[in-house]
Amino acid sequence: MRTHTPTARWREDFPVRWDEDNYMTRRELAKFLTLGSGLLAGANVLIAFIGLTRQAPAFPVQRIAAVEDIPRGGSLLFRYPTAEDPCILVRDSGGRFDAFSQVCTHLSCAVVHRPAEQALACPCHKGSFSTVDGRPLAGPPTRRLPRILIEQRGADVVALGIEV
Ligand code: FES
Repeated sequence: MRTHTPTARWREDFPVRWDEDNYMTRRELAKFLTLGSGLLAGANVLIAFIGLTRQAPAFPVQRIAAVEDIPRGGSLLFRYPTAEDPCILVRDSGGRFDAFSQVCTHLSCAVVHRPAEQALACPCHKGSFSTVDGRPLAGPPTRRLPRILIEQRGADVVALGIEV
């Protein structure tokens, strides 16, 4: 004679038919983990390949000014590589040209040329950068100004790229 055992309340609310449930065997779990690891390894190889084969961005060659337009100790503002990127070309007393981004590396104010100090000064927080290599000389900036790669071609100074 069978006796009726009362069903627990939770079994009524969450009925699970254990005999119909699909168990995952250890072998199936191992297969799943191996396949997942293989996919991740493949994705890493793909990402590494893309990183190695990606080329540096190409910058336009752009005429900045005629050499004779910039006196020794003078400077000229220009935009490079796009119209949204202000830059400054400086010529020292010896005639050497250097160019840098005009955007201060502290909080992005525009730097101005101070030839007597051989510096590019930022009026916002009294930052200062060298006109020789763009390194910070004073104030809060800690990173140098990005250098614009330039070249003298005939009577002109041209921009070729940005040093990164
Ligand atoms: S923004 Fe140039 S020093 Fe602060």
